[in-house]
Amino acid sequence: MSGRFITLEGGEGCGKSTQAKLLAAYLQTKGIETILSKEPGGTPEGLILRQLLVTGDKDKFDAVTECLLYYADRRHHLTKVVWPAMADNKWVISDRYADSTEAYQYYGYNKRIDFATLKNMYQIVAGDFKPDLTLILDMAPEVGMQRSFAKAAGMENKELRFESRQMEFHNNLRQGFLEIAKREPERCVVVNADTDIETLHAKIVQIVNERLGI
Ligand code: TYD
Repeated sequence: MSGRFITLEGGEGCGKSTQAKLLAAYLQTKGIETILSKEPGGTPEGLILRQLLVTGDKDKFDAVTECLLYYADRRHHLTKVVWPAMADNKWVISDRYADSTEAYQYYGYNKRIDFATLKNMYQIVAGDFKPDLTLILDMAPEVGMQRSFAKAAGMENKELRFESRQMEFHNNLRQGFLEIAKREPERCVVVNADTDIETLHAKIVQIVNERLGI
């Protein structure tokens, strides 16, 4: 596969989606055919899984079931969107990928799933495939949550299943993302997201240029 795979990760309200769009537009201006996608819900079938995952009671799934649903969505996304696009020399930007499962379902919930089980799921779904670059947008959860609730106020079907968790959950998942970045510095870069849109975009462009040599 000769395309590239870039993932954006972070807690609630960190601005990933806006930055993913801006980065895709930037890469297009550089003549790189780029697909902007997301998890959960990067395919029509995945949107149905997304609906199950992001709405309703916060405790409706046990830990393994919840991970399997994210991984089913991920496998479908990889096989239908990411891998075909990369085989076609395109770059794919995904708004969230597997680090979100580790940060939310493992660290967020205080390790209630076995780490090896989670890693096995990754292996089954993606094998040795991994992103070329992962940008972790980091900010204090209090700031992100405020942004997230402000956005949801205008939504008809409020996607607040995770936002309704306690602050401890959000602090845990932030630490989780930082752990992942520490473990895999060749793949992950942590970026301070508590700044304005243009400054953050410029920083991201700089990192992508340095890491992937555009
Ligand atoms: P997203 O659409 O990125 O929402 P937001 O813009 O609010 O960050 O992701 C939807 C929710 O799904 C979000 O609360 C994080 C959660 N999630 C997991 O818990 N595990 C995962 O593996 C993924 C991909 C997302």
